[in-house]
Amino acid sequence: TANREVYRPAYHHTPVWGWMNDPNGMFYQNGVWHLYFQYNPYGSTWENLSWGHATSRDLVHWKNEGTPIEPDALGAIFSGSAVVDSMSTAGFGQGAIMAMYTSAAESQTQSLAYSTDSGKTFTKYDGNPVLTATEPDFRDPKILWNDSAHEWNLIVSAGQKMNFYSSPDLKNWKYESSFGEGYGCHKGVWECPDLLKMPGGKWVLVVNINPGGPFGGSATQYFVGNWDGHRFSCDSKPETTKWMDYGKDHYATVTFSNAPNGRHVALPWMSNWQYAAVVPTMQYRSANGIPRDLSLFDDGDEQYLSVKPSPEVMQAFGKRTSQLSKACLVEIDHLRSNTVITLSNRKGEQVIMHYDAKARSFSVDRTNSGKTGFSDAFPCVTTAPTHGNVSKVYLFIDHSSIEVFGSDGKFAISNLVFPTTPYEKIVVKGGKYKIWEM
Ligand code: FRU
Repeated sequence: TANREVYRPAYHHTPVWGWMNDPNGMFYQNGVWHLYFQYNPYGSTWENLSWGHATSRDLVHWKNEGTPIEPDALGAIFSGSAVVDSMSTAGFGQGAIMAMYTSAAESQTQSLAYSTDSGKTFTKYDGNPVLTATEPDFRDPKILWNDSAHEWNLIVSAGQKMNFYSSPDLKNWKYESSFGEGYGCHKGVWECPDLLKMPGGKWVLVVNINPGGPFGGSATQYFVGNWDGHRFSCDSKPETTKWMDYGKDHYATVTFSNAPNGRHVALPWMSNWQYAAVVPTMQYRSANGIPRDLSLFDDGDEQYLSVKPSPEVMQAFGKRTSQLSKACLVEIDHLRSNTVITLSNRKGEQVIMHYDAKARSFSVDRTNSGKTGFSDAFPCVTTAPTHGNVSKVYLFIDHSSIEVFGSDGKFAISNLVFPTTPYEKIVVKGGKYKIWEM
């Protein structure tokens, strides 16, 4: 019924019905952004894992395209990636879409599927699996073209490290090396890798980890360094841990392959394994965060990922309004050294945000945000380091989520909220605000 849909976002991707977790196999081709995702077409909990599919021309409006990859004799279809094989290295034609995913049964192996109709339908490769397990947790293959070596590279998460491979044809893989021992956070399993070549030549290895996130449960860490086609080396000291987002609902984040203009457009699953299966949404579970463009910035001797809302999303908010609504963008500028932003509703539920210039931090408190009792792990305050002064922030509000971005990209905070009635009031102490809608 209609009231069950009170939490469904307006400008975020959600499955029409059923369970969703990780974004998978994302690629861009001929003006269309393709998003696949871990999907249960038969219910709203984690079962029958398949790849659902949605497409968008503007990263804001998504069209449901069905469930093109379903379980088979090798197992459930777990996470993975896809590439546009423009030179037909795998032999399925120029421009074929090659998807690689984990076949999950008693063991986890890596399999291929190809599409000759731009990702609408897939055929599984008859030589599957193409890579067999070396350890119990062995999954989430990420493939990328290595321009200098003229071959494919593959990263597979293996327990608490990442394994790297190379191949001329996506079918035959040679083990190169692994990375991770002693580096970053190890309080959970490493999952869903990505490897990004940044302008200037640095590489960023994205490593999602669960549990072990800074506020409990799932989160996304990354390492800045170098990749020579054989080995990843990290620029930072081993104990340095860098997080891409400082909210509680940002996981399995990976980027679109083949994006135009060398962009790195990332999409997070906007939930947390601590409570994803019990959030009060019906009859679908989970949304993806808004797409965000990644680049690097310096702070002291370190380089960090800059995370900015993708321009397509910013541009979609073209109308000024004075009223806070269920789906809007709030732009807050002239932030003072101690700014408090409060969103509230007539039930007294509220989300309190605090920018503290002295502490160089920005926090979001959802302890009294509405429905919070479905999990002890849900009520929380999450805090981001701001890497300097903040003069302007963006708040993306959409029914059951608040995503905060420093306008200079230096911090992002993605959190779910479940108010029993929408927040209708905003008070900013120490800044000026404008509200935009679509
Ligand atoms: C991450 C994950 C992946 C796995 C998938 C299964 O959220 O655990 O490692 O492939 O979900 O749905």
